[in-house]
Amino acid sequence: MGVSSTAPHLLRAARGEIVDRPPVWMMRQAGRYMKAYRDLREKYPSFRDRSEIPEVAIEVSLQPWRAFQPDGVILFSDIVTPLPGLGIDMDIAEGKGPIIHAPIRTQAQIESLHPLEPEAALPFIKTILQALRQEVGNKSTVLGFVGAPWTLAAYAVEGKGSKTYSIIKNLAFSDPVILHQLLTKLADAIAVYARYQIDCGAQVVQMFDSWAGQLSPQDYDTFALPYQQRVFQQVKQTHPDTPLILLVSGSAGVLERMAKSGADIVTVDWTVDMADARARLGKQVKVQGNLDPGVLYGSKEFIRDRIHDTVRKAGNWGHILNLGHGVLPDTPEENVAFFFETAKQLSTAAVVS
Ligand code: CP3
Repeated sequence: MGVSSTAPHLLRAARGEIVDRPPVWMMRQAGRYMKAYRDLREKYPSFRDRSEIPEVAIEVSLQPWRAFQPDGVILFSDIVTPLPGLGIDMDIAEGKGPIIHAPIRTQAQIESLHPLEPEAALPFIKTILQALRQEVGNKSTVLGFVGAPWTLAAYAVEGKGSKTYSIIKNLAFSDPVILHQLLTKLADAIAVYARYQIDCGAQVVQMFDSWAGQLSPQDYDTFALPYQQRVFQQVKQTHPDTPLILLVSGSAGVLERMAKSGADIVTVDWTVDMADARARLGKQVKVQGNLDPGVLYGSKEFIRDRIHDTVRKAGNWGHILNLGHGVLPDTPEENVAFFFETAKQLSTAAVVS
């Protein structure tokens, strides 16, 4: 009990303790909707600089912490950050996202990928995570994150984001053996990276399988789920007490499958009613979510009602309050402030009758 009573709120809830209100943080809480971020972006126009120069990444990660005191402070980085460490060079283009100049499409390219050595390839991650822990102490929980094998494979094979995922689906359905080799290598590297983040100070790790919602359920079972399991199993082997969160965008059709990944907490997006999500997942599965990020364009009253509605439906156990996906870049900053204030003043007992 001694340890848990000093543990921060989000970590306690993520471990399954009953807490007086759901902890709250926001995906993409550091980023373009904040003026402080946009100002800093002018000084450091390259995303890789902003996320890989430790002092800059620390500053960006702490901007929302200083402004809103969220219960979770996430490392400012990107899911493609570890790829150069495997031999996949990348850049992150303004307004476009990740670009891989030499997409991975042949067996020879897959065989030439090397195992990730995080200390050598990603030394800045240690500096950043240690500084975040130092800064927030027990007042907030430091979250690390990784991309999932399917989603990172989608970037590696397509070379950039896609609407149709034609190239990776072509590979999946015409030459699956090659894709499975790539997914296996990525899963092992991602597990190594997640363990490294935990060793450096991350107290919770979220895995983003953003593009797995683009798969039919049977293909999710073949190309996404087994590799989510492979990552989570490896991380749990060495770090059994670190809560693991899974996110899939557009996950309504695979929600039950997400719970089979080995994640402790399943992120729910706004296309599913939180009460339905609870009913579908069962009482033992913890959830995160699930306001539509667009709710933050609404009035304060509207935002408050939607927070209360979600908390009431999620109940008084195993819920991390969040949006269903990242905050939108043109969201009014004062509405983000209101979202956090309202969430932090909640008492679940008063809302859940
Ligand atoms: O501080 C935090 O909350 C961490 C933020 C974070 C970023 N990337 C920073 C970022 C997180 C959690 C990610 C993960 C990520 N990156 C995902 C998974 C989450 C999701 O959206 O499903 C994905 C798919 C990516 C790939 C990626 N990187 C995209 C699609 C983009 C956006 C392109 C654009 O401009 O809209 C990026 C670039 C990126 N990563 C930005 C940020 C804040 C925007 C560029 C900028 O503001 O400078």
